[in-house]
Amino acid sequence: MADISTDVLIIGTGPAGSATAALLSSYGIENMVVNRYRWLANTPRAHITNQRTMEVLRDLGRDVEDEAYMHATHQDLMGENVFCESLAGEEIGRMKAWGNHPLSKAEHEMSSPCHMNDLPQTFMEPLLFKTACSRGTQARMSTEYLRHEQDADGVTTTCLDRLTGKEFTIRSKYLVGADGGKSLVAEHAGLPFEGQMAVGGSMNILFRADLSKYVAHRPSVLYWVMQPGADVGGIGMGLVRMVRPWNEWLIVWGYDINGPEPEVTEEFATGVARQLIGDPELEIELISANTWTVNNYYATRTSEGRVFCMGDAIHRHPPSNGLGSNTSIQDAFNLAWKLSMVLKGQAGARLLDSYDAERAPVAKQIVTRANQSIAETGPIFEALGMGEGVDPVQMQKNLEARCDGNPAAEKQREAIRKAIAFKKYEFDAHGVEMNQRYISDAIVSDGQIEPAMELDPDMHYQPTTWPGARLPHAWVYEAGGAEVSSLDLCGHGQFTVLTGLGGEAWAKAAAAVAKRLGIEITTRIIGPRQAHLDHSGDWARASEITDSGCLLVRPDHHVAWRCAKMAKEPEAELSRVFEAVLGR
Ligand code: FDA
Repeated sequence: MADISTDVLIIGTGPAGSATAALLSSYGIENMVVNRYRWLANTPRAHITNQRTMEVLRDLGRDVEDEAYMHATHQDLMGENVFCESLAGEEIGRMKAWGNHPLSKAEHEMSSPCHMNDLPQTFMEPLLFKTACSRGTQARMSTEYLRHEQDADGVTTTCLDRLTGKEFTIRSKYLVGADGGKSLVAEHAGLPFEGQMAVGGSMNILFRADLSKYVAHRPSVLYWVMQPGADVGGIGMGLVRMVRPWNEWLIVWGYDINGPEPEVTEEFATGVARQLIGDPELEIELISANTWTVNNYYATRTSEGRVFCMGDAIHRHPPSNGLGSNTSIQDAFNLAWKLSMVLKGQAGARLLDSYDAERAPVAKQIVTRANQSIAETGPIFEALGMGEGVDPVQMQKNLEARCDGNPAAEKQREAIRKAIAFKKYEFDAHGVEMNQRYISDAIVSDGQIEPAMELDPDMHYQPTTWPGARLPHAWVYEAGGAEVSSLDLCGHGQFTVLTGLGGEAWAKAAAAVAKRLGIEITTRIIGPRQAHLDHSGDWARASEITDSGCLLVRPDHHVAWRCAKMAKEPEAELSRVFEAVLGR
């Protein structure tokens, strides 16, 4: 007999674990989360928070979304991505990042009701954790996962109570390993991985200093600094990252992984800060310093039986592109509704297989993307004639040479411009953030082939209602005139049928299927004199179906199936689709 029992045990209270707990509690599922430490993230590692993640927070509630914006640095202050020899020194180039280029801004606004923002992990985690606990999650801090065993009916996990030093067991129907980049759960579950850990060495130096005079006129979250050693280890270049504007900062500085791990003393940290900021007199208030490794490692299978892993446990990569915590929260959004429906007896256990089919490709994609972004910093060094390493004397000469009026200097200026502009694949890759389309048994084809990505899929989000894609966002209107996103009409743990005038039979069919299967299905008819109106015509364009057609949207906003027009037997069609999707 285990000491404690729960439906879902989650190891880890990071973005992945806390989001899973918050979602499960919102869906009414009993769950428990444990963390080996007494509190949440003590450093602001993740910060770039993309639109898709904000949609998950919005699904948790407008109060959750609003609180995130309240703590976040606004998108307007994120975008002047600067490359320089130091903050006080010469600026080499700049690009507008994170949806701040006017063209990119338009794409962002058209893609989602939510805004990208900069929300440090030290704010995101407490928000998700509070949401979870206030809605029913049992949290046990200072509790360390040691091992687990699973059988046909559940999982028995042994934990260590770090306050008493005593071991105890927790019996759960499912175990979620959200225990980060050194995941023991993934290891004990025997998940297969590809790639390599520790391909580079890096350190974080967190400090307070008012740097307004160097940055307030060119507001950004990231200032990239080219200095001797900036091309060693690390994430491509020395980085001064804003944590809170403009007086809290995090320096990311690389070291050679093949050499000894540096000891980041106060003296060392102050020296690096002075060097990157370019102010030999700078006084910093050091908050903390630590080293970490750059990884290029992802799980090719994300679950084993009743054990599901997510977040850094299955994708380990550098912070380039700012995808880690975002993808972790999105993993949670994919898995939580599936666990909920299986636990409520509304879906067969087969539905859970789709987690692996849908999220393992994402793990590979983002690990590859983030590591590629480091490599793509190389051309900037090369354009400045420092492909072989940064030599300060040579660097000054090269910076000087680019100021000439001769053809060679012009060529060099062009090479620098091109190399910096190419970094949009790291700093403005909207497609990487939003284009995820799923292929699995939890998606039913409508017989149409996948629409081709007409634009660069890494750069541009391309909306479609092709089954497997995320439902496109379009503003529709409530009867009183208030705007509401198409995404707001869906989610909250339920399937939604979206249709228009002439599609009333889908609503009737959905009610009958819901009753027969014992599930809840929300139905929305969009059209004149209905609860939701499409005054602008944006929804008609985005939906890619006729008014009498039907879009079936999963609780995680992905389209499960669509039918372009009214079917002959809508109830039979919906039954067929639900049985397939739910694995019944
Ligand atoms: P995470 O590591 O956050 O949490 C793991 C949890 O498991 C912790 O609560 C831990 O205590 C617990 N745990 C571990 N072992 C345990 C055990 N045996 N027993 C009990 N508990 C255990 N991402 C992003 O999206 N945008 C960004 O801008 C950045 N920027 C960034 C900058 C820097 C410098 C770094 C180092 C990283 C980023 N990231 C990022 C990445 C991001 O920080 C990372 O991807 C997420 O924290 C991963 O979240 P998880 O919840 O998966 O793991």
